[in-house]
Amino acid sequence: MKVIVCNNSEEMSKVAAQIFADRIRKKPNIVLGLATGGTPVKMYKELIRMHKEEGLDFSKVVSFNLDEYLGISGNHHQSYRYFMDTNLFNHININKSNTHVLNGKAKDAAAECKTYEDAIKKAGGIDIQLLGIGGNGHIAFNEPGSPKDSRTRIVDLTKKTIEDNARFFVDVNEVPKQALSMGNGTIMEAKEIVLIADKTSKADALSKSIEGPVTEQVPASLLQAHKNTTFVIDTDAAVKLKKKYESPKATASKGGCCCK
Ligand code: PGA
Repeated sequence: MKVIVCNNSEEMSKVAAQIFADRIRKKPNIVLGLATGGTPVKMYKELIRMHKEEGLDFSKVVSFNLDEYLGISGNHHQSYRYFMDTNLFNHININKSNTHVLNGKAKDAAAECKTYEDAIKKAGGIDIQLLGIGGNGHIAFNEPGSPKDSRTRIVDLTKKTIEDNARFFVDVNEVPKQALSMGNGTIMEAKEIVLIADKTSKADALSKSIEGPVTEQVPASLLQAHKNTTFVIDTDAAVKLKKKYESPKATASKGGCCCK
C-alpha cells in the first residue's frame, strides 16, 4: 500500500487524475470503477480538462460506479447516475452505454445487484477503482462491520452517513436510508485501487485505515491487504498519521505520477 500526501485538495485531485489518465492512455478500453461524493469533483474536472485540452480519449472506456441510493431514479438530482452525468460523463467522449450505475429504482433490487456483479465479470473485472472514504471509514456504502467478502447488495446506511450526506438534500429526512453498493469483496478484486481524501474530517478514519489494524469495523483498513492500492490524500486528511509518507514530487521522480 502506497500513501502520497499532497499539499492541498487541488494537488490531490491533479495527482489522482494523472494516475487515471496514465492508465487510460496505456489501455484505451480500460474498465474504471468510479465514485461519487464531494471529494472526486475536482479530480473529474481535471479529467475533463485533459480530455478537452490534451485529447484524453474515453471513447472505449467502460465504467462501473460503486453505489446508488435505493428508491430514487437516475433522473433524481441526488442520484449518483445524475451526479456522474453532470460531473463527468456529459463533458467527455465516453459512450454512455458503457457507463454502469446501479438502478436504484429496479423492481427487484437483489436481482439488479446480481446482474451488476455479472456485468463487472463479463467486462473482465475492474482495472482501476477510485474510492472516497467516509468519516466512519466506509468505502462505497460498506459501513463498519460489512463483511470483507461482501458482494454488491442492498445495505442500510448508518446514522452518521445519513447525516454526512444530508448536506446534498433539502432535509435530512429526504436522505434515503438504504442503498445498493458494491461489496468489500467486489472492491478488493479491482486490479488497482486509488483512494482519495481531503479535509480533517477524514483524518481519524485515515489514521485507523492506514496505520491501525485490519478490521471490518473500519472497511478502508481492508485495503492494507490489497496488492496495488494508493492513498492520495492532502495534508489536512493526513494530520493524524504518525509515519512519514511520500510527496507527489518524490513519486514523480521515481517515474510514478506527477502534478502539473
Ligand atoms: P465525500 O464522501 O467525498 O462526499 O466526503 C466520501 C464517502 O462517503 O465515501
